[in-house]
Amino acid sequence: MDSPRAFQRCIDASCAKTFPVTSTLVSCPTCGNLLDVDYDWSQFSIAHRNWDHFAQRSSTRGTRVAAGTGPVTPAMLDFSGVWRFRDLLPFYRDESEIVTIGEGRTNLQRADLLAKHLGFDFKAQHGGLYLQYEGYNPSGSFKDNGMTAGFTHAKMVGATRVACASTGNTSAALAVYGTLTGTRCYVFIGEGKIAYGKLSQALDYGAITLQIAGDFDACLARIRHIAEHMPQVGVYLMNSVNPFRLEGQKTIMCRVLEGLDWEVPDWIIVPGGNLGNCSAFGKAFIEMKALGLIDRVPRLAVIQAKGSRTLDRIVNELGVTWKADDGQLMGSWDAKAVDREYRRMDDANERAKTIATAIEINRPVNLPKALRALHAMNGVVRHVDDHCILEHKAMVGKFGFGCEPASAASIAGAHILRREGIIKPDDRVVCVLTGHQLKDPDVTVGYHTGRKTKSDESLAGKARGDVSIALGRLANKPIRVADDLDAILKAMGV
Ligand code: F0G
Repeated sequence: MDSPRAFQRCIDASCAKTFPVTSTLVSCPTCGNLLDVDYDWSQFSIAHRNWDHFAQRSSTRGTRVAAGTGPVTPAMLDFSGVWRFRDLLPFYRDESEIVTIGEGRTNLQRADLLAKHLGFDFKAQHGGLYLQYEGYNPSGSFKDNGMTAGFTHAKMVGATRVACASTGNTSAALAVYGTLTGTRCYVFIGEGKIAYGKLSQALDYGAITLQIAGDFDACLARIRHIAEHMPQVGVYLMNSVNPFRLEGQKTIMCRVLEGLDWEVPDWIIVPGGNLGNCSAFGKAFIEMKALGLIDRVPRLAVIQAKGSRTLDRIVNELGVTWKADDGQLMGSWDAKAVDREYRRMDDANERAKTIATAIEINRPVNLPKALRALHAMNGVVRHVDDHCILEHKAMVGKFGFGCEPASAASIAGAHILRREGIIKPDDRVVCVLTGHQLKDPDVTVGYHTGRKTKSDESLAGKARGDVSIALGRLANKPIRVADDLDAILKAMGV
């Protein structure tokens, strides 16, 4: 039998079992570890080893024939910022199988005003701060990059029901792809743990939304159990344990390179929750280097919230690292130390808690892949508190296009790393802004007014966390004024 071009493989080098790309698996059936999608690149065309190939598609990406739900055309694929790079995620059997809604048309912006406000002394020639705005995806977050790939695989395997646990954005992305493909969608969300913008999307798109009396970790454990052990229910799991989703998220890094005219930056800085994004970035750079598309990889910084800093503790306090085998994609790590830490957290009843609800996660499922990314990209991990997140979010609002709280962790992280001297003045730094500003307007209004707002009470009336929002340093309070011309002019300061 011919060897497969694309396959799934366990990342644990001591297992290394492979499975067909058409299997629906939540984890390695042999050892329970995470799976990758991997390729025998020698069986693919060599066109993808040259950026010119992709640059040509970028140049025509605006010309899209109205898509609807009709057959997929090469123009539709080039329009998508994910599938423009389809040669780098070639797990599909035929291009006609790809599910796309025009995702990944996002921006890389140089942010000089923000850099100046932060006191960054970047040297003009090379150094600079860049923001990758993933909030400009159809559902308003980076999740669409992964969902398009996940739905493509779901279609390949004939799935009719898809499900996820979510802190909000995954559920919004799942729901929009679900509604547009006519797939039945289930989303599990923790009670009082989701920003209203995201909840409103899942409801609007018609996903069956279960508000579980528990947190994200509890929701994920439930849906994982149902997907893995209850085949009679027949749900396809769309969380980032699904390796196909991460294939799509790799292309965020392709677009960063595209935005820098295919030059590799010095730093990629990203918030860490379930650690799917940083894992995908690590895999992208390992592969692009192996394919000869780049000759060096940037450094990675994963920034967690202080109230949910499991990776930070495991790396910086327990010293757990990834030991790579030759190809770098498989390796080993001290899984016993990780398990001991999880048991300690359980015994101490430690729960994740942060105002950045998107990253309020205690047990990040992609932890081993995040260790791999840190190894491959000479990475660092830091944490930032909620106050710091909110102040940096306000700066992105005032000096950029805005972002949601979790996204601002990346800017806060850049600030810390520059102060520590780890980021140098001539470094080129890319912060990934993972979600749109309008995802969580309550936090923004709370910051500017110092008032608690409606969704501090969740649907079921439970408080959204014990973080009260103090009036921020950049607070821009609305001015209350009588409906009177003189009073209005006075308030206008004219
Ligand atoms: N930023 C935003 C806006 C997110 O929604 C998430 C994750 C992250 C960062 C963290 O990314 O998990 O890849 O490390 N949100 C998930 C969700 C967990 O359910 O929407 P990660």
